[in-house]
Amino acid sequence: MSDQVKGQDAELDQVRQAMSVRDFAKARDLLEPMLKTRKAGVPAFFMARVEIEEGNLDAARTLLDAFQATRPKHAGAKVQRARILFAEGQLAEARQLAKDALEINPNIAPAERLLERIAAAEIAAEAKAHIDVIEAGYIAARTDGPTEDMRAAAKALAGMEPGPDWNSDPVQAKIAYFHFASDLDWALRNYDAHLVDVSCRFDYVTWPKRIHDMVKDKTVIDVGCGFGGYGMGFLIAGAKSYAGLDPVMKLDSTRAKNKRLREWDDMGVTPNEIAAALPAVRLFQCIAEDMPVQETFDTIALHNVTEHLIQLDLVFSGLVPLLHDTSRIVFLHHNYYCWNGHHFAPNRPDQIDLSVPGQAQVYDWQHIDIMDDLPDDHYFRTHLNRIRLDEIKAITEKYFDVEIWDEIPSSAATLERLTPEIIERVRKKLPDIQERELTTNVVYCVASKK
Ligand SMILES: C[S@@+](CC[C@H](N)C(=O)[O-])C[C@H]1O[C@@H](n2cnc3c(N)ncnc32)[C@H](O)[C@@H]1O
Repeated sequence: MSDQVKGQDAELDQVRQAMSVRDFAKARDLLEPMLKTRKAGVPAFFMARVEIEEGNLDAARTLLDAFQATRPKHAGAKVQRARILFAEGQLAEARQLAKDALEINPNIAPAERLLERIAAAEIAAEAKAHIDVIEAGYIAARTDGPTEDMRAAAKALAGMEPGPDWNSDPVQAKIAYFHFASDLDWALRNYDAHLVDVSCRFDYVTWPKRIHDMVKDKTVIDVGCGFGGYGMGFLIAGAKSYAGLDPVMKLDSTRAKNKRLREWDDMGVTPNEIAAALPAVRLFQCIAEDMPVQETFDTIALHNVTEHLIQLDLVFSGLVPLLHDTSRIVFLHHNYYCWNGHHFAPNRPDQIDLSVPGQAQVYDWQHIDIMDDLPDDHYFRTHLNRIRLDEIKAITEKYFDVEIWDEIPSSAATLERLTPEIIERVRKKLPDIQERELTTNVVYCVASKK
């Protein structure tokens, strides 16, 4: 192998990494010089993937023509060609190519995923007609009740399988909404086309999907729910009812966090309007310490909230009366002591830019070094409890029976940055800190009544 090709292999690893975080601009920058010397080689295959991601299907086809000229049986290239056909709406042809790829290489996961997407697209086309019937009448049905046509459409949707993207694709989410519903008349009464669309766009369905077993057919309370948009996400996943509380929720504001883009956006509807329109949704602007409800729930969910609860012990003690014998409390805890536990930029290593004010103070676990020297009104003191993993585990075990305690590490690219020097440096501040506290990104916990 020539030195030039070996050098390109190392660069291809960087391309793979850029593509894994969907940084296609970076992947393109890396690939362009390589393509000058290897027009029909592996860089052409990767560039075809970049072009497909960016919607340049003709350019992708030309690159694949060159790549496949000497590799007609390359399974990955067949999948990329199938993706082009899929994007052009040629579903039968796309399916055939994906199956050809699987025959060549039965372990090619992207072909499996594409086949699932093709099946979902076919179902979506059929679902669209039923969705149209419901969307023509659901607002009137809030006062007059559903028509028989709407009931039939809801039943047809309930009988379909939502595709794999029901957290991001609005048609799949609409199928999921009826498919997972425990009562179709109740589902029709609480349907809202706009909210399903916004929930997918703002990424309010991914968490309820992740904890689906604890949402479907359950009554749910979402403690620290954010800005009031999560309710429909839980209803899509089949919740019977949803109560959300958060002190920052502005009941008459349409402003909310678009979690997909990590930026503020307009939800187009206020929490008060959501709760007025949907009887399955109740929203409260308050802290968990002032619990506004007295009944029990099947599921208590806290998504990225426990690291913000300054009085965590008090809040957990206040959740105990909300549990019945088969209830579950489920939370995802973002660990302060991990690489991005400070909640500031950079969130990932590829975002490090030390010219951005503040990054140099916190990156590579330095937020731990500075924590004792911060003023009382600093965000790390007022909004983050900086609880240690063993402390939160002990408080959880004090009030609940822990069934799952899963310490999930940061990405490989993040963990590569943890050197012995950094561990030694952090231990000057916190002598007893364990390596797992620096490497655990989040804790996923499921617990039940003691
Ligand atoms: C990172 S946000 C998560 C919001 C939402 N769960 C999500 O995943 O988008 C943390 C939330 O915890 C809320 N929070 C902080 N202290 C609280 C308290 N004492 N009671 C209830 N919620 C609280 C904050 O207002 C904030 O909305």
